[in-house]
This record gives sequence, C-alpha cells and structure tokens, in this order.
Amino acid sequence: MKDTDELKGISEESFKQGMRQFAAAVNVITVKYGDIQDGLTATAVCSVSALPPQLLICVHQEASAHEQLLKSGKFGLNVLSSKQESIAKRFAGIDNSKREERYDIGHWTQLTTGSPILVDALVGFDCEIINSVTAGTHSIIIGHIVDVRYGDGTPLVYKDGKFIKLK
Ligand SMILES: Cc1cc2nc3c(=O)[nH]c(=O)nc-3n(C[C@H](O)[C@H](O)[C@H](O)COP(=O)(O)O)c2cc1C
Repeated sequence: MKDTDELKGISEESFKQGMRQFAAAVNVITVKYGDIQDGLTATAVCSVSALPPQLLICVHQEASAHEQLLKSGKFGLNVLSSKQESIAKRFAGIDNSKREERYDIGHWTQLTTGSPILVDALVGFDCEIINSVTAGTHSIIIGHIVDVRYGDGTPLVYKDGKFIKLK
C-alpha cells in the first residue's frame, strides 16, 4: 500500500467534475450529544456488511457535527424521500438556516441510541460507532446498526449539483 505523499493525484476540480456524475441517495446524518443536536446532509454513505450489520458514513472533519459524532459514539442515518428536499437543504446549510434551526422542520423520533430519526424517511438506521479512519479531509465512520425504522416512498437523489425527484 502506498502513502498518499508518494502519489500524484488529479486536481480538486477534476475530482469534483467526476463526482458530479454520481447519482446518489440523499441522507441526513443526525447526532445527539448531551443537550446538543446537530447533523448534516450526506451522500457519502455506503452499505458495508449484513452480518454483522454495518454501514459507513464519510464526514468532513470541519463539519460542525464531526466532533459530536466521535464524542457521542453514535448516530442516526436517515434516507430521505423526494418530499424531504427542504430537510436536505436545511441540514446542508443551503437555506442559510442556523445550526440550531435544523430540527425545526420534519417529524422526529428516536429508537435505541437516542439519535434523532425522521419519522417519514424511507428508512432510518440507528448506529453505534465501532471505528473511524481519517482519509484526507474526511473521517470514514463505521456504524454498527442496532435498530431500524422502515418507511416508504420515492428516493431523493442528488446529481450534478441538483436534487432530483425520482418518479
Ligand atoms: C447533496 C449533499 C451531499 C453532501 N454530502 C456530504 C457528505 O457525504 N459528507 C460531508 O461531510 N458533507 C456533505 N455535504 C456537506 C454538508 O451537508 C455540509 O457541509 C454541512 O451541513 C455543513 O454543516 P455545518 O455548517 O454545521 O458545518 C453534502 C451536502 C450536500 C448538499
């Protein structure tokens, strides 16, 4: 395995241009640590293992929720439906709302860990963090899924800088 310092890579702009071609499901990662609730909109999310049940999320180290995620050791992962674009914008800071206003919209509940779970998401996974690896500007955080809430609907997708509602 090579160290990144030894490798020549493509530019940030080339990376972003390529990644814009990924059509990805839009999710909201949630965290509750003490009295503070935070979260972020994320597409860098992936299924890892069914047995044991694990998934991963990639979170920028400068995201306001990053420290809370690692301190709390748990998170919620909510897969958004096409009706939840406003929630995606709020948790991405696109609508200029303040961090404290993120939970003002949407119907929220909790499962086992206490992390906020959206009542009408396509699915909500409740996770305990079992590992975290630094990769460039992000942390790859692996969650062991301890609980799940199923919903239904059509997915909210993000591609080429735009939210797309699948029919
Ligand atoms: C569609 C979309 C997908 C995103 N995916 C990620 C992601 O996977 N990981 C990440 O760290 N930030 C991602 N972001 C950016 C975060 O949502 C955004 O930086 C975060 O809300 C900033 O929170 P803060 O202002 O509280 O730090 C994404 C933004 C959008 C609009």
